[in-house]
Amino acid sequence: MEKYVINGGTPLRGPVDISGMKNAACPIIFASLLTGSVCVIENLPAINDVALSLEIMQSIGCRVRMLAKDTVEIDSRDAEGGSSPFDLVRKMRSSYYLLGAELGRYGRACVGYPGGCDFGVRPIDQHIKGFEALGAEVSVDSGCVVAEAKYGLRGSSVYFDMVTVGGTINVILAAVLAKGMTVIENAAREPHIVDVANFLNTCGARITGAGTDTIRVRGVEKLRGCTYAIIPDMIEAGTFMIAAAATGGAMVVRNVIPKHLESITAKLEEMGVIVEEYDDYVYVTRSGDLNRINIKTLPYPGFPTDMQPQMCVLLCQANGVSFLTESIFENRFKYVEELRLMGASIIVDGRTAIIEGGTTLQAAPVRAMDLRAGAAMVIAGLCCKGRTEIDEIFHIERGYDNLVGKLTAVGADIRKIVIPDSVEYGTAN
Ligand code: EPZ
Repeated sequence: MEKYVINGGTPLRGPVDISGMKNAACPIIFASLLTGSVCVIENLPAINDVALSLEIMQSIGCRVRMLAKDTVEIDSRDAEGGSSPFDLVRKMRSSYYLLGAELGRYGRACVGYPGGCDFGVRPIDQHIKGFEALGAEVSVDSGCVVAEAKYGLRGSSVYFDMVTVGGTINVILAAVLAKGMTVIENAAREPHIVDVANFLNTCGARITGAGTDTIRVRGVEKLRGCTYAIIPDMIEAGTFMIAAAATGGAMVVRNVIPKHLESITAKLEEMGVIVEEYDDYVYVTRSGDLNRINIKTLPYPGFPTDMQPQMCVLLCQANGVSFLTESIFENRFKYVEELRLMGASIIVDGRTAIIEGGTTLQAAPVRAMDLRAGAAMVIAGLCCKGRTEIDEIFHIERGYDNLVGKLTAVGADIRKIVIPDSVEYGTAN
């Protein structure tokens, strides 16, 4: 068992370099299957979801070679679809991009049902709706999603019942080699969707409108390999921005695209945090008390749901009562129980957390409930004096590249300890 041990209370000061975006890297790795060629992907974050995505690609016959710490070469010439192992696929949500990639390349797909953070049902009915619109028959057979387009995939119109990042990307993957034009309406507009589209267009696809709510994909005969660099991770950047504000420090968050951070910056400034934007970095500091605010998570360009737990920790320090509404997922407040163990005063009423500010959190042994909830617990531990232990950190290491190293470099007292499973819980020294 592994834990983080944090001795908090030190303001974080100094520069931090943001890694490539997890939610762009994983779909682009799977999208490389569509080329049946050799792709080189740069600026990959060193995180477990990327390692798992590459392992799954190897399991279906791709040759994967790391050319550098953040650069991989994927040769998918000899890949065969339909053979990804259940036990790997069910470890993360991004596995479902293999469905769109296999269907797009082979006209058929067979992939185990995806896993991922547990904050609600997280169905894939919209992905299936899109695949069916393109002419595939889709069924779920003993835990496997099976899709087949007996007469080939043909362009069509797809209107999503709700904005879905995964659904939007998956339909793009299935459509790039289909015959004719596909129009995706009510599409998600996240920067990582634009990144996937840019990668595929670099490989010869003809995608327009990515980043808007209407995306057009004109099918092409074939795609070629390419070299492509992943965009910086806006959620990792936002996490460090909040850590700087929560600890009362001052940080230079480098290798970012400020435009992608606009909603995060706007809400931090509304709280009284100082955010200075430059070409590829932002400077974040806090001068005094924090204002209470209301936040509602929304699809991009709204405030990201993946920043909701981290922001909740900051709101515990604000002057007054704040309201934080989660409009994307039905159950993304599981971490509140862990924050209560640290003294937070939060009431969850349906999809809204009512957060009483002016709370001084106390160090305590807590758990990471999922990836971003885990990041929130790290921030909570950093901003309170004493020893906080965080258990189940495997969630965090799915999506944060060298979090301990990056935090240590800006003054945090944080370390990872490994406890042999035989040792009783709580007796770690
Ligand atoms: C992606 O999840 C991200 N994961 C999530 O990030 C992120 O929170 C989410 O997008 C929203 O931005 C990856 O990219 C791997 P959705 P995804 O489809 O694709 C419902 C992180 O921390 N829905 O946009 O699963 C769904 O239940 C992770 O990095 C359907 O009902 O999100 C949710 O309520 C956590 N049917 C809403 O739509 C569908 O077919 C948005 O989900 C698809 C989605």
